[in-house]
Parts: sequence; C-alpha cells; structure tokens
Amino acid sequence: MPRLTLWLVVVLVLAAAATPPATAALLESFDGQQREFDYFALALQWPGTYCRRSRHCCPSNGCCRGSNSPTVFTIHGLWPDYNDGTWPGCCSRSSFDPKEISTLTNVLEQYWPSLSCSSSSTCHGGKGSFWAHEAEKHGTCSYPVFRNEYDYFLAALNLYFKYNVTSVLNEAGYFPSNTEKYPVGGIISAIENAFHASPLIVCSKDAVEELRLCFYKDFKPRDCAVGSDIKIDMVTSKGSCPRYVSLPELGSVRHDGLQSWISDDVTL
Ligand SMILES: *[C@@H]1O[C@H](CO)[C@@H](O)[C@H](O)[C@H]1NC(C)=O
Repeated sequence: MPRLTLWLVVVLVLAAAATPPATAALLESFDGQQREFDYFALALQWPGTYCRRSRHCCPSNGCCRGSNSPTVFTIHGLWPDYNDGTWPGCCSRSSFDPKEISTLTNVLEQYWPSLSCSSSSTCHGGKGSFWAHEAEKHGTCSYPVFRNEYDYFLAALNLYFKYNVTSVLNEAGYFPSNTEKYPVGGIISAIENAFHASPLIVCSKDAVEELRLCFYKDFKPRDCAVGSDIKIDMVTSKGSCPRYVSLPELGSVRHDGLQSWISDDVTL
C-alpha cells in the first residue's frame, strides 16, 4: 500500500521537523484523580451519516466543503477506555492549547474535521472546538502513554493512516450508496480479517454512524468488545444496528447565511 506508506512518511517527517518544545503541555498536569485507563478506542465517523444531521454551514463544518468534503471515515477521537465499559474523562486541570498542534492543523482539518457548526463542551465549564473537546475530555486521560497534546493528536493520525477502514470496506465491495444495504456482519468480518481484531459499529437508524477500532496501550489491535456491549451474531454494536445497514453518500448541506451560526447538534 504505497499511498498509506507515503502518508505515514509525511506525518512522521512533519513530526520530526515540528515537534514543539515541551511547554506547559496539557497532559502534564494530569491530576491523578482517575485510575489509569486500559485501552484505546479510535472512533471514526462516517460523514455521509453525520452530515445529514448537520443543517447549517459555517467555516468549521467539514460537511460544507462541497467537493472537498470528506467521503471517507474521519476521526472522531482517540479515547482511553476501561475494560468494564466505562471511561475516564477530563483528567487534567489545564486547557487545550491550539498552538501546541499548530503544525498539524492542516492534516487535522482534513482527517479530523468537525462535522457540525456547534461548539463542544470543554472540561472547565466552557465551550470550544471539536479538537479542544476531544483533547480535554479524552486526551488528558491518556496519561502516561501521552504526556502532551501534540503526541496525542499525532498518535491518533498515525493509527488512522495505518488502519484505513474506508479502504478495507471498499476492497470488500462496500461503497457509499443511498440505495444499497450491506450486511453488518460482512462489514465487521472485513475489518476483522484485515486488522485481526473486532471493531465496534454504531448506527443511526439503519445508517452506519461510527466504527471504532481498539488498541492496547502499545497500539497493537485488540477486540473492542467489553462486558456491557451487545453481541449478536458475532457483531458487537452499541445501541442497535439492524442486520442490513447503509453507508449513505454525502449530501449537500444548506448554506443559509444567518442561520448558519446556530448550533444544531451535540458533540459526544
Ligand atoms: C484510505 O482509503 C481511501 C480509499 O481507498 C483513500 O481514498 C484514502 O486516501 C485513504 N486514507 C488515508 C489516510 O490513507
């Protein structure tokens, strides 16, 4: 997969060239109130499903880039989780600092875009960007694997480049479509066969909304299933996916001036 390799090289070169000085990094003030996490979930969102819900446009909404809007799974977050199905949140007293990841911004815009106009809750009573939300709520709990914001975002990107679920699904014959339905078991098996670990799938009605890939702390793939998940026909899903699911194509979001700044949905 030369393309994938190329991207990894690009990101690694970026990393080497641009590692910022370790300043007052977000994760360094880990407050130790919550116990150390057990594993990571890389949550990926399907824009075709998310963007149907996004009714307004604004500069930060990745759904509104016309032909440049994402047509592949994009990153939602890299989440430290516990084996019992719960997860730690907001593990640090300090706030997200966009300057720490300024060298990654272009890559993040492309692969980790917000898919709505709403601002997200941060950990200290405020509102912030999608990245601020993910970094404060989840990223801070990835200590001691990551000790700063930059390493956290870079690791998420590297996992995303290495484990390309969009290409796995395409190779198995699953393409975006507003008419086709695909067996959810087929989608899961395709990913299991490619990465040797079972993902978790999340649906909104019959549309795939998210796929989650899980990793040990050393980034080796592991199964996502934990105690509280429902396992039906070998398929692990949160909530309910029907047996046949769709992978909707990206529709267009209205550009309607004034209205566009109104929050229209909620970020997890
Ligand atoms: C993942 O695969 C898709 C489909 O082959 C491709 O368009 C996309 O560029 C790949 N993403 C990355 C980050 O390599």
